[in-house]
Amino acid sequence: MHHHKSATERKAIRDRNPYAGDNPAVIQLLNALDSVATKSSPILLEGETGTGKSLLARRIHDSSGRKGRFISINCATFSQNLLETELFGHTKGAFTGAKQARAGLVASANNGTLFLDEIGELAYDFQAKLLHLLEEKTFRPVGADIELTSSVRIIAATNRHLKQLVKEGAFRADLFYRLSVLPFTAPPLRDRLDDIEGLSNNFIAQLCEEHSLPATTLTPQSLKTLKTYHWPGNIRELRNHIERSLLLNIPLQKKITSLAPIRNPSDKSLEAHEKTFILHTIHENNGNKSKAALTLGISRRTLDRKLKRWKELAA
Ligand SMILES: Nc1ncnc2c1ncn2[C@@H]1O[C@H](COP(=O)(O)OP(=O)(O)O)[C@@H](O)[C@H]1O
Ligand SMILES: [Mg+2]
Repeated sequence: MHHHKSATERKAIRDRNPYAGDNPAVIQLLNALDSVATKSSPILLEGETGTGKSLLARRIHDSSGRKGRFISINCATFSQNLLETELFGHTKGAFTGAKQARAGLVASANNGTLFLDEIGELAYDFQAKLLHLLEEKTFRPVGADIELTSSVRIIAATNRHLKQLVKEGAFRADLFYRLSVLPFTAPPLRDRLDDIEGLSNNFIAQLCEEHSLPATTLTPQSLKTLKTYHWPGNIRELRNHIERSLLLNIPLQKKITSLAPIRNPSDKSLEAHEKTFILHTIHENNGNKSKAALTLGISRRTLDRKLKRWKELAA
């Protein structure tokens, strides 16, 4: 008889996951993060999708000694107006339908950490308001006359090159410099191949428990194959690959070879890798872009923006 775990039980198993790794660059990164965790300066986490930026943000908060909550918000999923009320809250009657005053996330995360994911997607006009919060430690709820004070630690993450966005005029230089006082980069999985074995074995053990499957281990053959792939979706892709293989009972090294491997990874730009991976994921989700975005861990808006860009480039 199978015992099926509830969604909550399964999520609890997954959330036990700390950011794992023994690669020297990873150890160095974790040490550097630990040494600034207790400070209040903003932190910028750069890195490709799936490299563990969200996990790192959580880890920084956990070792910060801050008493407040850890609150995370994805900037790409809100329009500018919604993001403003979401973050800063609003007064009673601030807009139609605002029957009661509501505190925003900045207030909820007071004395804690506010994690702003996909900061590169922040609307240009709103960036000035975020800068104000960072510099003055004050913010104004929508509809309010007075400013409130906040003691929140900001961690921002992006999978885009913010500096490039600044050059293109899409991101404010002043906010960029304020955010990048403490910049860190989460390394892509292809740069830490020595961690594949440990990460995979952890995921296998976890997923077998989560799905009540008989325990299994990585064969030398599958390890070898996993190490030759370039992992554009990084650790998220590795985990998904392992989950799919376990659930469908496919040997771990099988499916990966059918993933249209890229012959020479160094020939291709990061964006080309990203494009291949994203198109592949859409294909795997039978063309369902919302599902693909979910698998990729990016917002539907981000996905549409990328597709539009590639279409324009190809035109
Ligand atoms: N170093 C790591 N150790 C264990 N799991 C990881 C690690 N990095 C990422 N993961 C897992 O990979 C997935 C994507 O991580 P996430 O932090 O959301 O990446 P990002 O925010 O950079 O897109 C999550 O399931 C996470 O638990
Ligand atoms: Mg994330």
